[in-house]
Amino acid sequence: MATQVKKTFQSPKGTFDILPDDQKYWEKVRKAVKHVALSYGFERIDIPMFEHADLYSTAIGQSTDIVEKEMYTFRSKGGDLLALRPEGTAGVMRSYVENGMLNLPQPVKLYYVGPMFRYEQPQAGRYRQHHQAGFEVLGDQDAVYDAQVIIAFLAVAQELGMKNLRVEINSIGCPKCRPAFRTQLVRFYKTRVAKLCKDCKRRLKDNPLRLLDCKEEKCEQLKAYAPNLIDHLCEECHNHFKLVFEYLDELEIPYALNPHLVRGLDYYTKTVFEVFVEDEHVEGGSEKTHQRSKLALGGGGRYDQLAKTLAGKDIPSVGAAIGMERLIGVMKRQNIKATPLYKPEVFLVQLGAFSKKKCLRLFEDLRVHGITVAESFGKDSIKAQLRSADRSAAKIALILGHKEAIDGMIIVREMDSGAQESISMEKLIKVLKEKLKK
Ligand code: HAM
Repeated sequence: MATQVKKTFQSPKGTFDILPDDQKYWEKVRKAVKHVALSYGFERIDIPMFEHADLYSTAIGQSTDIVEKEMYTFRSKGGDLLALRPEGTAGVMRSYVENGMLNLPQPVKLYYVGPMFRYEQPQAGRYRQHHQAGFEVLGDQDAVYDAQVIIAFLAVAQELGMKNLRVEINSIGCPKCRPAFRTQLVRFYKTRVAKLCKDCKRRLKDNPLRLLDCKEEKCEQLKAYAPNLIDHLCEECHNHFKLVFEYLDELEIPYALNPHLVRGLDYYTKTVFEVFVEDEHVEGGSEKTHQRSKLALGGGGRYDQLAKTLAGKDIPSVGAAIGMERLIGVMKRQNIKATPLYKPEVFLVQLGAFSKKKCLRLFEDLRVHGITVAESFGKDSIKAQLRSADRSAAKIALILGHKEAIDGMIIVREMDSGAQESISMEKLIKVLKEKLKK
């Protein structure tokens, strides 16, 4: 009978494992996000990883790439049409309304950290499961919060020691001023339709603002001559935008106005922004070249109409999200270090069945006293165990032979110098605390 070849499983395309070696970076980022969030008064919220699919299509917009092409939509056994969350803002707003947060003192400041799912073509910095850290200020229209969200975003990057960041900012107006601009934009592009890429020909009908975001070279060239929204803002939007600048200037936050920044989600009004990092990629095989490029670390903006669209309520809000994979990629490229999470201080070496049992108890005692212990209980030879102790980088090895175990003694060995002494078990914790300066 032919032997059956077993299928080897691989993680789905565009997903990856976060292995133990990388966890230190994730922990460092989560810590910085939490610290910054709490220092600006953002409280943590956790929302489900899936919601009713129409929450996203209503919030993000039917004719956006996310809703048209990238949602993981599925029917539950009960027949509900659900979708894995492609982003966090829609779910946070749903939760705010559902949980009556309108009755709390406003604004309500929330932050979240977690995975998002988008069926995108995977490439460097673009995955089908990615993680975001998001900040949302709900229930206040004051431009000061647009500035504060940008400042909090930058504070995370600063706390991590990142360099070469650039804030680009724009205002995309409101339902009062945007329709007239839209008409002008359509008029401009209609006379140049032949010069547009395939996607933009479609966008011209469905979502003309997105034409300004196209990265195709021929569309980029046209864009330079396209009308600017900034020139068409109503008085309210203009004044609001001016205030955002003033608040950023007050804190000397550098930013650049990018009149073509529109973002890929339809819920935005007024301020939109993105934070880029001037990044260095190494490309090519044998002949490697260093390419500098602009990578979007994250972005956000104001979404004053979202609650109206979702629930008929007036809840002006603003927020932003950071792409955590991109942040960590840049940290590594900028040589930002993260401290390993597992750093054993003491390694337990046991010789013989009796001392192994004693070591099991000793492990618990040390752990309870806050001393981090490593072991290789599965190995019996002293040589193999000392080799593991060496690899573990523990400062001290504790060696418990059969005789020591019976006499209530233990050998304390300094791994660096090899110096060792035999001490009574009763004194062990005190001696270790002194040696480890605890
Ligand atoms: P977004 O720009 O779609 O905004 O995503 C935020 C960030 O998540 C991006 O700048 C990028 O760093 C990262 N990101 C997005 N898609 C991927 C992907 N496929 N792979 C890796 N990283 C990715 C939002 O999601 C809005 N909800 C932000 C917001 C919050 N606006 C207001 N409040």
